[in-house]
Amino acid sequence: MPDKLRVAVIKGDGIGIDVTEAALAVVDAALSKTGAASLVYEQIQSGAGYFRETGRDIEPGGEERAGEADAIFLGAIGLPSVRHGDGTEISPHLRLRDRFQLYAGVRPVRAYPNAPQRLADPRAAGIDMVILRESTEGLFYSAAAHGRSDVRGDEEVRDTLRITRATTEKLHHFGFRLAQRRRLRGKPGKLTCVDKANVFTSMAFFRKIFDEIAPEYPGVQTGYNYVDAQALDLVRQPWAFDVMVMENMFGDILSDLAGGLVGGMGMAACAEIGDHHGLFQPAHGSAPDIMGQDKANPLAAILSGALMLDYLAEKSGQASLAQAGQLIDDAVKDGFEANRLRPIEFGGDMGTRAVTETLLGFL
Ligand SMILES: NC(=O)c1ccc[n+]([C@@H]2O[C@H](COP(=O)([O-])OP(=O)(O)OC[C@H]3O[C@@H](n4cnc5c(N)ncnc54)[C@H](O)[C@@H]3O)[C@@H](O)[C@H]2O)c1
Repeated sequence: MPDKLRVAVIKGDGIGIDVTEAALAVVDAALSKTGAASLVYEQIQSGAGYFRETGRDIEPGGEERAGEADAIFLGAIGLPSVRHGDGTEISPHLRLRDRFQLYAGVRPVRAYPNAPQRLADPRAAGIDMVILRESTEGLFYSAAAHGRSDVRGDEEVRDTLRITRATTEKLHHFGFRLAQRRRLRGKPGKLTCVDKANVFTSMAFFRKIFDEIAPEYPGVQTGYNYVDAQALDLVRQPWAFDVMVMENMFGDILSDLAGGLVGGMGMAACAEIGDHHGLFQPAHGSAPDIMGQDKANPLAAILSGALMLDYLAEKSGQASLAQAGQLIDDAVKDGFEANRLRPIEFGGDMGTRAVTETLLGFL
């Protein structure tokens, strides 16, 4: 019997707490259904609420403990009313991304029946794609740590877009492997390099590395799109895309656009993967406008839990974990198909608890 896998859990603030509890309940149910060993959860105190009480954004030793776990699950961090002296918000999760070099930001985007479709074209029902957002450098390089922006008095500020060969090679390999895995699951398995190689040297470099790596994956169909054209295509024909790989800021913007196409933030799951660590969280924030009201849609967190199980399966070699992840994906799809998942977020009548209970029923 292998050792039990350990998950560091940071519930954080606002709806982060409720959606984390929902996600872990669903993960536990899926694991017991497949007969896989349960996970051991280790809570880590962190967030704006914790900062307000203690003056620290994460408990002492919390970052180290997160690093020792097999995976990290995070709800949401931040409250607009709690800030540092310089006006910025409490955001230890950005430090975790930097510290553990979580370069591969995986954001699946999928249309579900009976969930809102923002496009009138019926082909929008077939949207099933992944935005792969580099998450440690690009134009966020100077945002990841204080002091990296070049501030020249009150007259000029320069931020740096940084593309390194080391990170870009790893990112593209990740993208090709992801496309390969999706092909095995019956999806197109096509990888599109989204850049602005026509005008930026850094982006031409990004594409050059993509071209160097592509021949290693002859089974993966490749394509290119400039980021402005990609924005157009995500509205015009999103069903034509499978996996799209891009630098950090492009991914930040296009993944929200893509999330909007299939409903909203309550469906936006996210995995952040590095060479040795993985962090899983819904892409939304703490939603102070609805916190404490049982109104949050927990599905983004629940689908992030499924991504975590997939990751742990690969890391540990335990196939039953991947089966549990698949069970969750299927339950969400079946729940929407039967019109039994009706989150308040989409004008429905079901709060966080009702959505979670219904999904547990489907499992
Ligand atoms: N990774 C993170 O932890 C993260 C990400 C984004 C924002 N934040 C923080 O969250 C706080 C609020 O930020 P914001 O308002 O810009 O973004 P937000 O994602 O919290 O909310 C934006 C809008 O989407 C709605 N929404 C978000 N998630 C939802 C869900 N699961 N179900 C139903 N509706 C949902 C909210 O009610 C709100 O109207 C800020 O302090 C911000 O810094 C944290």
